[in-house]
Amino acid sequence: MTDKYAVIGNPIAHSKSPFVHAEFARQTNQNISYEAILAPLDGFASTVNGLIEQGYKGINITVPFKFEARHLFTPTKRAIDAGSVNTIDFSRRVIYGDNTDGIGLVSDIQQNLRITIQNKRVLLIGAGGAAEGVLHPLLNEAPSLIVITNRTLDKARNMDKKILSNGAFLHSAKAFDDLAEAQFDIVINATSTGLADIALPIQSSIFAKNCLAYEMMYGRETPFMAQARAAGAQVADGLGMLVEQAAEAFYIWRNVRPDTQPVIQMVRALQMEKS
Ligand SMILES: NC(=O)c1ccc[n+]([C@@H]2O[C@H](COP(=O)([O-])OP(=O)(O)OC[C@H]3O[C@@H](n4cnc5c(N)ncnc54)[C@H](OP(=O)(O)O)[C@@H]3O)[C@@H](O)[C@H]2O)c1
Repeated sequence: MTDKYAVIGNPIAHSKSPFVHAEFARQTNQNISYEAILAPLDGFASTVNGLIEQGYKGINITVPFKFEARHLFTPTKRAIDAGSVNTIDFSRRVIYGDNTDGIGLVSDIQQNLRITIQNKRVLLIGAGGAAEGVLHPLLNEAPSLIVITNRTLDKARNMDKKILSNGAFLHSAKAFDDLAEAQFDIVINATSTGLADIALPIQSSIFAKNCLAYEMMYGRETPFMAQARAAGAQVADGLGMLVEQAAEAFYIWRNVRPDTQPVIQMVRALQMEKS
């Protein structure tokens, strides 16, 4: 029998997740279906309950429901740290809401891009859902320093305050203007500025020699990527993160780890065909 899975969001038509999970299933011989479901903005909980009644085995959750999903089921430590949920497994006695975004980013940086985070100076730009989702997994890799910066500085300060003190690394929240003298080995753009082609108010000098500039958005070159490239940084977009977070969800549901590399290449090829 085919086990049913889905991703729920609003909007959802653009989602690459059905393609990614179909490839994982083909590769690992898992008999599953995976579809994209549009939930009304005020109808997330009823949509989820409907899927449970229809025998779905699990779901992914995307914008704007990741925060609401935290309150529907028991959150895992990863979901508590992230403050949001993107993966739910209905097949267990206790239903947990998990978050695989952070591990997706860390896997992409460390395994796919082969850059270790340990002892690196990390700048995390942004204090929205994506930034909060990746902060703890980044800290778990023991960078020497992590600075959070955001247009609305109070949001970055609040994120920083939530981190328990840990002598293994230093962390702080700083305004864009206070970064003039700073340099980082890994700079992560977790803002949505790329969607609107807006440049960030950062100096090109923040990219240290051999810096990785990671743009969480994917699909096209953003002003952040162009600036980092011109400054000599190694540049990556968030496509690898997308596929890695999906692989972690697939593992939670099926207990099988798919090979992400060919799927990343396939999605990238599809994007290039479209552009
Ligand atoms: N690759 C993946 O798997 C993956 C997963 C999740 C998210 N993402 C990407 O991550 C990005 C952020 O998503 P999100 O869910 O965190 O969004 P969000 O919760 O809406 O947060 C948006 C962030 O962008 C900042 N921002 C927006 N406009 C800005 C501007 N003009 N100048 C400076 N900062 C600005 C906001 O700052 P304020 O706080 O000042 O408003 C906030 O920090 C999106 O591009 C999304 O596609 C990728």
